[in-house]
Amino acid sequence: MVKLTGNKKVKTAVFISGTGSNLRSLIKFSKTNRSPISIDLIVSNNPKAKGLGFGKIFKIRKKILNFDKKNQSENKLLATLKSYDIKMIFLAGFMKILSKNFITKFKGKILNIHPSLLPKYKGLNTHQRALDNKEKHSGCTVHFVNSKLDSGKIVLQKKVKISRNETKHSLAAKVLAQEHKLYPRAILKIFNL
Ligand code: GAR
Repeated sequence: MVKLTGNKKVKTAVFISGTGSNLRSLIKFSKTNRSPISIDLIVSNNPKAKGLGFGKIFKIRKKILNFDKKNQSENKLLATLKSYDIKMIFLAGFMKILSKNFITKFKGKILNIHPSLLPKYKGLNTHQRALDNKEKHSGCTVHFVNSKLDSGKIVLQKKVKISRNETKHSLAAKVLAQEHKLYPRAILKIFNL
């Protein structure tokens, strides 16, 4: 689905808004020999995002943008991505919705991870909604980003069992642990590796 040219890793950016545990797992993956990607930029809409700390630890450049003026921020961001030669974007707990214009510029080159078995539970508060509906399973999905929220082509999913005494917090932790494994696997898959 995505072609590798030569043996150079494809430069990518990870967009976050919060803790960045998926960012951390992606950075670790990117440093392995089998990874087709390097992570060259971390983008956040939130200057207080804990995940920004991984930029410092792993010496990765950071770009913080206030998405309130979305067009302006996205235009700045597009220029930054170009200057760093970023070819792919991974959304990892990024809580802003990118514009159609932005997505078109990176068509087929943006992935997202979502904490549900899509197409079920698009949007926010996925774990509570799954519990309220007495689901027996939930999980996570890596998908391509298109202009409709959480609706692009699915790359991979991982199911988890919901136990009897599950809370939204225990379910979130269980799903998150799977997310950390699923995102790298999805990247290998889109590179046909
Ligand atoms: C993850 O569970 C991710 O799937 C979710 O936010 C969490 C971020 O955790 N993303 C969304 O809900 C996107 N709509 P992290 O910051 O520790 O990676």
